[in-house]
Amino acid sequence: MNIKPINILAIESSCDDTSAAVLRDGVVLSNLIATQKVHELYGGVVPEMASRAHIQNIVPVVDVVLKNAGIDKKDIDAVAFTQAPGLIGSLLVGACFAKGYAQALNVPLIAVHHMQAHVLAHFIDEPKPEFPFLCLTVSGGHTQIVLCRDHLDMGVLGETIDDAAGEAFDKTAKMLGLPYPGGPLVDKYAQLGDPLKFQFTMSSMPGYDFSFSGLKTAVLYFLQAQKKLDVDFVTKNMNDICASVQYTIIKMLMNKLHKAAKELNIKNVGIAGGVSANSGLRKAMQDAGVEYGWNVFIPKFEYCTDNAAMIGMTAHYKYLRGEFADMSISPTARAAW
Ligand code: KG4
Ligand code: ZN
Repeated sequence: MNIKPINILAIESSCDDTSAAVLRDGVVLSNLIATQKVHELYGGVVPEMASRAHIQNIVPVVDVVLKNAGIDKKDIDAVAFTQAPGLIGSLLVGACFAKGYAQALNVPLIAVHHMQAHVLAHFIDEPKPEFPFLCLTVSGGHTQIVLCRDHLDMGVLGETIDDAAGEAFDKTAKMLGLPYPGGPLVDKYAQLGDPLKFQFTMSSMPGYDFSFSGLKTAVLYFLQAQKKLDVDFVTKNMNDICASVQYTIIKMLMNKLHKAAKELNIKNVGIAGGVSANSGLRKAMQDAGVEYGWNVFIPKFEYCTDNAAMIGMTAHYKYLRGEFADMSISPTARAAW
């Protein structure tokens, strides 16, 4: 018997990356990401410019992704899109495009939660985690410890009460005069520095919650004080400052992840989201795997930062369950899950 494969076109436009992917039966055929350089000039994402760039990018990105996947429009079985959370203007572009496309092709629409998709990025490649699976999701807007009982059955155990881990990286970079997004640059300099050269206090939050705003203030006051003594302090100590701040962020993240894994007795542990591209965090996870006997899961770089493949992966599981969205659905900037 010939069973027809399920082809899903997925769109991700929650922030400043326009991405589209095509998945066949949960396997990524093509995943394309158009990054928006315009924000570098402003030291952060400018929401209005992000929306306009999405409008310009979305049609060519989808055309190329379909071509790369070798799929004709008429063979698409569902169109998925990021419904929340994110910048509302950016989300609207993806949502309107997805709705129009689904309607034109007369196929179902699938709404995906961006944070759930970051977790399900672990199911794109082998080896896939077994359940229960504990995932630390660290991005520019979120820091969460998520307990997954099944692909679509997951809950947030703890999260940041203020800044996200990615923001802690980006704001540190900004204070050091580095361009946006600063996280990858802090990572680069940190690899050449001494992580114990400068000490920063770590916040202690109850349960599995995090707080990074105190660290941001500590770095600010530290730099102000040092620059009074030596105007070239930052230039002379860039590697050590980056290594020390990165060490503190990673320690705060790993302490809570270890606490959760130990208390819930979970051995399948992973990281997801843009900050999981960080080399120090990836190494800390590998070390923790050896020390605590964890099965460690880290997605490929391209599936750590925002991408439509993870939206498509989530949509695949939703498709199998028949979880389709109504055409009246709207995107929302914030959404609990
Ligand atoms: O998941 P993501 O691509 O977008 C959001 O949903 O926010 O995450 C972007 C965040 C930014 O804060 C960026 O600086 C950070 O991930 N990031 C990194 C690294 N690569 C990306 N932070 C630290 N080290 C990296 N190598
Ligand atoms: Zn993200």
